[in-house]
Amino acid sequence: MPLWMSLLALASVSGQFATAPKPVISLQPPWTTAFQGESVLLTCNEFPINSPRETTWFYQNQGSQTSSTTPGNTRVVQETGKYQCQHNGSSLSGSVHLIFSSAALILQAPLSVFEGDTMVLRCLRRPGSALKTTTIYKNWEAQVPLRDGSDFRVHGAMLRDNGQYHCKADNESCCSVVSNTVEIQVQELFPHPQLTASPSQPTDGSPVNLTCETRLPPQRSDVQLQFCFFREGQALGSGCSSSPELQILAMRSEDTGSYWCQAQTVTLSVSKKSLRSYIHVRRAVPSVQIHTRPPQGSVFEGQELVLVCSVRGVPGPISVSWYRRSKVRVATEIALSRDAEFRIPTVKSSDAGKYYCEANSIPSTEVTIHMRVPVSHPVLTLSPPGSRATEGDVMTLRCEAQRGSLPILYRFFHEDALLKEIKATSWRKSSFRLPLTAEHSGSYYCTADNGLGPQHSAAVTLSVRVPVSHPVLTLSPPGAQAPEGDEMTLRCEAHRGSLPIQFRFFHEDALLKEIKATSWRESSFRLPLTAEHSGNYYCTADNGLGPQRSAAVTLSVIVPVSRPVLTLRAPGAQALVGDTVELHCEAQTGSPPILYRFYHNGVTLGSSSAPSGGGVSFNLSLTAEHSGNYSCEADNVLGAQRSEVMPLSVTVPASRPVLTLRAPGAQALVGDTVELHCKAQTGSPPILYRFYHDGVTLGNNSAPSGGGVSFNLSLTEEHSGNYSCEADNGVGTQRSEVVTLSITGLTGSRGGHVATGVTGVLLSLVGLAAVLLLFYYWLPGRAGGRPACDASSSSSHSDPQEPTYHNVPAWLEMQPVYSNVNPKGGDVVYSEVCHVQGRNKRAAAPTARLPEDKDSSVIYSQVKVYTPGSRSQLSASSAPHR
Ligand SMILES: *[C@@H]1O[C@H](CO)[C@@H](O)[C@H](O)[C@H]1NC(C)=O
Ligand SMILES: *[C@@H]1O[C@H](CO)[C@@H](O)[C@H](O)[C@H]1NC(C)=O
Ligand SMILES: *[C@@H]1O[C@H](CO)[C@@H](O)[C@H](O)[C@H]1NC(C)=O
Ligand SMILES: *[C@@H]1O[C@H](CO)[C@@H](O)[C@H](O)[C@H]1NC(C)=O
Ligand SMILES: *[C@@H]1O[C@H](CO)[C@@H](O)[C@H](O)[C@H]1NC(C)=O
Ligand SMILES: *[C@@H]1O[C@H](CO)[C@@H](O)[C@H](O)[C@H]1NC(C)=O
Ligand SMILES: *[C@@H]1O[C@H](CO)[C@@H](O)[C@H](O)[C@H]1NC(C)=O
Ligand SMILES: *[C@@H]1O[C@H](CO)[C@@H](O)[C@H](O)[C@H]1NC(C)=O
Repeated sequence: MPLWMSLLALASVSGQFATAPKPVISLQPPWTTAFQGESVLLTCNEFPINSPRETTWFYQNQGSQTSSTTPGNTRVVQETGKYQCQHNGSSLSGSVHLIFSSAALILQAPLSVFEGDTMVLRCLRRPGSALKTTTIYKNWEAQVPLRDGSDFRVHGAMLRDNGQYHCKADNESCCSVVSNTVEIQVQELFPHPQLTASPSQPTDGSPVNLTCETRLPPQRSDVQLQFCFFREGQALGSGCSSSPELQILAMRSEDTGSYWCQAQTVTLSVSKKSLRSYIHVRRAVPSVQIHTRPPQGSVFEGQELVLVCSVRGVPGPISVSWYRRSKVRVATEIALSRDAEFRIPTVKSSDAGKYYCEANSIPSTEVTIHMRVPVSHPVLTLSPPGSRATEGDVMTLRCEAQRGSLPILYRFFHEDALLKEIKATSWRKSSFRLPLTAEHSGSYYCTADNGLGPQHSAAVTLSVRVPVSHPVLTLSPPGAQAPEGDEMTLRCEAHRGSLPIQFRFFHEDALLKEIKATSWRESSFRLPLTAEHSGNYYCTADNGLGPQRSAAVTLSVIVPVSRPVLTLRAPGAQALVGDTVELHCEAQTGSPPILYRFYHNGVTLGSSSAPSGGGVSFNLSLTAEHSGNYSCEADNVLGAQRSEVMPLSVTVPASRPVLTLRAPGAQALVGDTVELHCKAQTGSPPILYRFYHDGVTLGNNSAPSGGGVSFNLSLTEEHSGNYSCEADNGVGTQRSEVVTLSITGLTGSRGGHVATGVTGVLLSLVGLAAVLLLFYYWLPGRAGGRPACDASSSSSHSDPQEPTYHNVPAWLEMQPVYSNVNPKGGDVVYSEVCHVQGRNKRAAAPTARLPEDKDSSVIYSQVKVYTPGSRSQLSASSAPHR
C-alpha cells in the first residue's frame, strides 16, 4: 500500500478533517535562515482565513520554553529557535525552526516546498565580506555556479529535488567558506486520488456514481484541480472536469472492467492517478411483479386503478402485457422504464378479479382486486334518547353506517374533539358508553371511514344537567347586626348546577323573593331594613333536579333609640324636702340594651341599663339642692338621645319664725312706734307672715323672695300683751314664740282706758326720757358698743335651737330689743330688753339721771306664765312647764 493511502486512511480514521485545522506559520521574508540582527515577521495563518483577536506564541531554544500573546496574528522575531503558534480554541501549529546566523555565508531556503512549486534557494554573503563566486551543492555535489545573482531556482519542484543543500564561496586571499546546510523535503501537493464506486457492486441497468477523492493542504486550498475518469484506458464522459464525481445512469453488464481516475492541476504541473478499481456489473435475476395503486385492499368503485408491472433483470427491449383472470389480455406495451403502468380510469364493480402481468413472457404473480363499497354517511344515536341528561347518567353513543365495506373506522367527536376511535370489522356499527359529567354537554357527531376519507354524521346536541349544589346565603355588609334603615344585600350562590336556577329567599320560613338566574349561579337583591327584618334567613336553589337549601343566617336589625321621655313622680302635688321622687326615663323605640343616664343641671346623677327594653327608674330623696332642671339620655349602639328638660322645684317648709320687737327706747311708751319683725330662717318663698296680738290678727305681710317682714305699731295702752307671728309658705304654718310687751308708764289697772290728756303729758315725759335714753345709747353704739345682756341670767342662751337676735344686725346696737326667749323646759317666757352698754365715758351721764339704770343693764319687765288656754295657741313653739 502506498504511503499516501495509509496517511489518508489514518487521517480519516483519526477524524482530522472534522476537527479545527492546525494553523500554519508563514514568514516574511520567506527564509528560515537570516543574518543575526535581521528580523522576520511571523504570521499565524488559519484556514479558512480568520482574523483572530490575539495569538499565543510558543518559543523554544536549547531546552528553555516561553510563551507570549500578541494582538492580531503576527509577531516579529530575531532569535534562533523553534516557534509555534496557537489561536484561542485552535490546535497548535507545526513548529518552525528559525536560524539567525552569525556566519559570513548563509544558504536561505523557504519553509516549505510543494510539488510543482518553483523552489528558490538563496546563497547570501554577509555584506562587507570579501567573498566571491558562490556554488550551490546538492547532496555535496556541485550544481551550477551562481554567476550574477545568488538565487538558485528549480521550476516545477518534484520529490526528486529532495536533498541537502549548501553553498560555498571563495575567500580571495586563501580558502573557501561553506554555508549552512539546508534539508529540502518537497511535499506532496495532494495525495494520489482514490476512486470509489457507489454502489461498489452494481447490477445490470442500475446507476453508479464514481468519485475521485484527494485533498489539498490548507495553505494551498486555492489550487484548482481537474478530475478525469478512465475505463480500460478510455476516458469516460466528456473529458476532464472540475467535478470529482461522475454519474453513470445505467451500468450494463458490458461495463464490467477496470476503472481509474486522475487528479491534476489546471497547469498540469502535478498530475496523479488513482489505483485501478475493478467494477463488476452483476447480471440481474429476472423478476416480474405486479402491484396496484391504490393497494389492492382499498380499491373503491369509481376510482382510478393503476396496475404496475415492475420488471427487473429482464434484458430489453421489454414487452409488458396485463392479463385478467386466466389469459385474458387487457393490454400490451413496450416498457420504456422498468415500471410499466396500466390505468383503469374509473373502476367498476365488474372490474373486480385477479390480474397479473408478463414481461417478455415472464409472468408475475397474481393480484386480486376486491371492489370496496364506500361507507355511507353514518347516523349517531344516543341512548337513552333525548337531548337532555343528568350528570352521572351513562349514555351510550352508537354510530352506524348503512352501507360500506368492512373494516370501518368509526370516530366519535365531542365539540370537534376526538372522543373515541373504534375499528369495526364485523358490523357496520360501533358504540361505547360514556358516564356523563357536566363537561359532556355540547354537540356530538361521528365519522365512518373505510378508506375514502371520513363520512360525517349529523350533529346531535346533548345537554347534561348538573344538580344544583347547596347554595350559600351571604349578607352584605356582613355581620349579624345591621341598623334599621340600612340596605342589606342578600346573595344566594350555588357552586355547581345547570342553569337556569330558581333562587328563593326566605325570612322566618316566609318567601321573601324569587329570582330566576339564567346566566350566573347566583342571585341577589337589596332589602331596606326595618325592625321587622330581624330573624333567620335562608335561600334555596332549584334547577328542576330538586331544591337545595342553604344554611340559615341570623340577622338582627338594630333600631335606634327614640327621644326618651322623662317623668318625675312625686308623692304629692309639690315636691317637698324629704320626699322621694322617682325619675322614670323611657324611650318608646330602640333595640336593647339601652343605657339610661340621668342628669341634674347637666351633671350626671347616675345611669342604669335596661337589658331587655322598657324604661328605668331612679329614686331621689329630695333635699333643697335638688331643685333644678332634670333630663335623661337613652343610648344604644346606634347613638344617644336626650329627653326634654323637666324642671323640679323642691319646696322647703317654712321654719319656726322669730318675732322681734323694736322699740325706740329702753322702755316701750305709749305713742312709740314699735316695729314687729318676723322672720323664718328657712322656707321656700313666697312666705306670708301674719302678726298676732293676744291671738288676734294684727295684719299680714308677704315676703315674695324670702327674708323677714316688718309691721309697725303705733303704741297705745291697749298694745300691752302677748305678740306672736306666723310664717306660712303653703306647706304648713309655723308660729313664733310669744313676746310679751308691757308698756311702761301705765298702771296695769288702767287697762288701756287712760284719759288722753293725762296720757299725753305722761307720754311726753316718758317719751322725753326715752329719747334721751336713745340718744345716750345710740351714740355709744355708733362708737362700737355691744348689747351687754347677762348671759348667765338669761335662760334664752341655753336653747341653741331657737336663736335669738340680740347679737345680730346693726339695729340692735342702737335700740333696746324685745325678744322672745324660750326658757328650757318651762312655760315661762322671758322677754328681755338688752341695752347697749357703752364703753366710753358718756355712759356716766345718764346714770346720774336714771339711777335705776346703775345696777343692771337688764330689765325684767314681766314674768309670764302660760295658762292652759294660751298654750293651745302657742303649742307649736312652747316647751312644757317644768
Ligand atoms: C477564548 O474563547 C473563549 C470562547 O470563545 C472565550 O470565552 C475566551 O475568553 C477566549 N480567550 C481568550 C484569551 O481570548
Ligand atoms: C578570508 O581570509 C582572510 C585572510 O586569510 C581572513 O582574514 C578572513 O577572515 C577570511 N574571511 C572569511 C569570511 O573567512
Ligand atoms: C449519485 O450522485 C447523485 C448526486 O450527488 C445522487 O443524486 C445519486 O443518488 C447518486 N447515485 C448513487 C447510486 O449513489
Ligand atoms: C322608687 O320608689 C318607689 C316608691 O316610692 C318604689 O316602688 C320603687 O321600687 C323605687 N325604685 C327604686 C329603683 O328604688
Ligand atoms: C332650667 O331651665 C330653664 C329653662 O330652660 C332655665 O331658664 C333655667 O335657668 C334652668 N335652671 C338651671 C338651674 O339650669
Ligand atoms: C291680709 O290682710 C288683708 C287686710 O289687711 C286681708 O284682706 C287679707 O285677707 C289678709 N290675707 C291673709 C292671707 O290673711
Ligand atoms: C316702721 O317704722 C320704722 C321707723 O319708725 C320705719 O323705718 C319702717 O319703714 C316702718 N315699716 C313699715 C312697714 O311701715
Ligand atoms: C300673756 O301670757 C301670759 C303667760 O303666757 C299670761 O299670763 C297673760 O295673761 C297673757 N296676757 C294676755 C293679755 O293674754
